[in-house]
Amino acid sequence: MFKTKFAARSCKEIRDKYHVYDDGLYYLISSRGVLYQTFCDMTTAGGGWTLVARVHENNMYGKCTVGDRWSSQQGSDPNRPDGEGTWANTITFGTAEAATSDDYKVFFFITFMVLHELEHWTTASILRYHTENHFLTSHGGNLHGPAIPIVYDTGNVISTNYQYGPNSRGTFIKSVNYSVILLHKASSLIKPTGCHTEHFCIGGGGHFPEAAPKQCGDFTSFDWNGYGTNTEWSASREITEASVLLFYR
Ligand code: G3P
Ligand code: CA
Ligand code: CA
Repeated sequence: MFKTKFAARSCKEIRDKYHVYDDGLYYLISSRGVLYQTFCDMTTAGGGWTLVARVHENNMYGKCTVGDRWSSQQGSDPNRPDGEGTWANTITFGTAEAATSDDYKVFFFITFMVLHELEHWTTASILRYHTENHFLTSHGGNLHGPAIPIVYDTGNVISTNYQYGPNSRGTFIKSVNYSVILLHKASSLIKPTGCHTEHFCIGGGGHFPEAAPKQCGDFTSFDWNGYGTNTEWSASREITEASVLLFYR
């Protein structure tokens, strides 16, 4: 039988029960009794964060092609506007070891510390923020719900705004520290006030009629006015190429 050093359901439990404070890979036991390995961030904002997912647009020019695991790998199909509903389904993929280079999901629902980073686990984060209001519990344990206030560990509301195109900035709230929001199975880090969420939400649907298949992919339409140009509706190259790591505590 496989022996683990710690018997725990989460990184928080490892921290609290065994007084372990080092970042790294640990074995955990899922609610169904399955042993799996994941990364624990034991330092940010008190530590105890369990990595549950990583989203990365592996090929912005591939519009719902292989690798668009959070939207649709089956193409932009008008008969399947929701894509593969990957935020909502129970399919898991990837490994914790590979989670800085490949998409990863251990659970079907998630968050509340988010890192947007370039390569390594913690050293290259552009933005890092977490929630403190236990919204998973208060909103029924899923990611649909109102905007959630966030606390920045790295970056701030201003640096976040400038990652997105000037036109996109006109469609979200820029003045306060919200929000991880999870709207229609997609996630954004700012609070939209209107349409055109495709320029900053991640892992949304599959088929969008406008200019199809241009808005089909994990970082749906970050490149509407060119890849990484940060003009009109296009996001910055930095945020376009970042990985989004999702943790819970
Ligand atoms: O999301 C932007 C799109 O709906 C409108 O683009 O090129 O008409 O400004 P455009
Ligand atoms: Ca893609
Ligand atoms: Ca649009």
